[in-house]
Amino acid sequence: MRVTVIGTGYLGATHAACMAELGHEVLGLDVDPDRIAALAAGRLPFYEPGLDELITTHVASGRLRFTTSYAEVAAFGEIHFSCVGTPQQPGAQAADLRYVEAVIDSLAPHLERPALVVGKSTVPVGTAERLARRLVELAPVGAEARLAWNPEFLREGFAVEDTLRPDRLVLGLDRTGGPAEELLRRVYAAVLDAGVPLVTTDFPTAELVKTAANAFLATKISFINAMAEVCEASGADVTLLAQALSHDTRIGGRFLSAGLGFGGGCLPKDIRAFAARAEEIGAGQALGFLREVDAINLRRRERTVELARELTGGELAGRRIAVWGAAFKPNSDDIRDSPALDVAARLHREGADVTVYDPQALDNARKAHPALGFAASAVDAATDADLVLHLTEWAEFRTVDPAELARVVARPCVVDGRNALDPDVWRAAGWTYRALGRP
Ligand code: UDX
Repeated sequence: MRVTVIGTGYLGATHAACMAELGHEVLGLDVDPDRIAALAAGRLPFYEPGLDELITTHVASGRLRFTTSYAEVAAFGEIHFSCVGTPQQPGAQAADLRYVEAVIDSLAPHLERPALVVGKSTVPVGTAERLARRLVELAPVGAEARLAWNPEFLREGFAVEDTLRPDRLVLGLDRTGGPAEELLRRVYAAVLDAGVPLVTTDFPTAELVKTAANAFLATKISFINAMAEVCEASGADVTLLAQALSHDTRIGGRFLSAGLGFGGGCLPKDIRAFAARAEEIGAGQALGFLREVDAINLRRRERTVELARELTGGELAGRRIAVWGAAFKPNSDDIRDSPALDVAARLHREGADVTVYDPQALDNARKAHPALGFAASAVDAATDADLVLHLTEWAEFRTVDPAELARVVARPCVVDGRNALDPDVWRAAGWTYRALGRP
């Protein structure tokens, strides 16, 4: 099939490459000419394991091409995936819909033949209905320009795997659903043949599946982090508590890792936008708890700064602090709402001399926080440090030998903000080891 993908960020670039991998002819569009030039040359402008190979392969085969022209996209495709971002509005909690709206406004006037536009972004419930009306209004083909909503659940770091083998496919369709469903079943035939469950539904339910999933995941993380606070007050160990809870198959162990909490371009802004939207439609009370989920999450960052202050003798000014990790999670170079960088910036504001190391996110971190110090390795960052903060759990940090590291630091003192280092090993090597939610 001839497929177009509009927006080539994490979601769009992954979707375009995976559509080519599924055998389709793909044309990707972005309004950023530099990004398009990089992709057209087979270069991925961000880090995502496995994606660069896929893009290189399919650019070389000619099955994946890129453009900045909506006219070209409209002429090429029978199905157009809209993959643009819905960030948090500056200074507000709600989602900023200007990019999803711009896709419809830019594409629709070029639609001279029947086409299906498929929204993949995370949007406030009610958005698809409104966009569908606008599409019909603006498209020369009128009602033959249809909209469907097909939310994306991919995780950064596993984007290719999650797109080719998702846990489920959700299709939100309008009242004339049949033709759109038939096209989507064709486009996803290989995925569906592999046995991936399909849920077909209406627009608002499809929109809500995504926001509800993210709200649930954020709640699970904040739940265990709330337990971590209780553990800190009572001398209990949250990692053992989580382990014991996880044996209850109704609870399960995933998304139950206590630590510095969630960040990134999705969970924080999605729970805020969800609560804001619920208020707009008169269901605000139902989602009041999400404000608490957000607050618990942000308190972990404050607690980490407090621990750092305590461990450096009550005074951060002038202390040398190594921060391991800048990405919001491992296997990503994404620093959007990164808990690690937020803590680093707070320490810096309090006068600490902060040196950050991250295996992939250093360039992004340096651009966003030019006043912080940066080092080329975990050991370099820790050299002469009064305190090491382990804030993003890259596998690389678990391979550092604490006995060797003890020889280069000023004081062997570590805070494990992700409960991912082995306290016995670090303590045996002479370290003061502190963690979130553990005695
Ligand atoms: C998330 C959702 O998982 C995905 O389905 C959705 O499409 C987009 O948002 P992503 O933001 O890529 O994906 O990251 P995810 O792996 O979900 O991690 C989110 C944050 O939660 C990270 O900061 C991570 O460190 C944190 N986290 C995760 C925890 O603190 N504890 C856990 O147990 C799990």
